[in-house]
Amino acid sequence: MKITVYIATSLDGFIARPDGDIEWLHNPDYVLEGEDMGYGALMESINCLVMGSGSYEKVRSFDIPWPYEKPVIVLSSRPQDIPAELASKISQMSGSPTEIVQSLKQKGVNHIYLDGGKTVQDFLSAGLVSELIITQIPILLGKGIPLFGPLPADIHLSHQQTRSYPNGMVQSHYLVQ
Ligand SMILES: NC(=O)c1ccc[n+]([C@@H]2O[C@H](COP(=O)([O-])OP(=O)(O)OC[C@H]3O[C@@H](n4cnc5c(N)ncnc54)[C@H](OP(=O)(O)O)[C@@H]3O)[C@@H](O)[C@H]2O)c1
Repeated sequence: MKITVYIATSLDGFIARPDGDIEWLHNPDYVLEGEDMGYGALMESINCLVMGSGSYEKVRSFDIPWPYEKPVIVLSSRPQDIPAELASKISQMSGSPTEIVQSLKQKGVNHIYLDGGKTVQDFLSAGLVSELIITQIPILLGKGIPLFGPLPADIHLSHQQTRSYPNGMVQSHYLVQ
């Protein structure tokens, strides 16, 4: 199973403000016409997205149409509000990261886009993440929800490439060894 984390962080390592706000990501100065920074190619290559309930609830809170074509699996220990019109695109699971990956493997999934803060930390701790594509945004937030946290052991990474963009973003791609 290939599990890709593709995520944006502030230069000081936060994926959201303490209250979950991510408006700072949507600065018009960051828009680059004709450049999606690898997002489209990744979306083409995955079978599904797996995201924590914190990320799902944030996406649902936006006044926009559901932004994902591929199936989304929301991880939560609580019943999630899934609108009837999205029932074919969104499902819910719970359990350990290993159990979740096993179950998705049995359903024929071989490439997951993993999203969220706590969720990414849990899958990293369980040794299940294959690659990290991290886009650093040129902003310091000072505090917020961190991408990384405690680990049971060091995780060694193999650097693949780093690209900088005219909007000041710096994207690095690492494989987990
Ligand atoms: N900067 C970016 O690119 C980026 C990307 C993604 C998200 N974000 C932001 O990050 C914030 C969300 O971060 P977050 O730390 O709350 O993380 P999250 O990973 O989205 O959600 C964590 C929650 O998901 C549930 N969960 C996770 N794993 C589970 C499992 N194996 N089984 C059952 N439930 C599980 C738990 O809640 P319950 O069991 O209580 O439901 C857990 O507290 C949002 O503000 C979002 O917008 C930013």
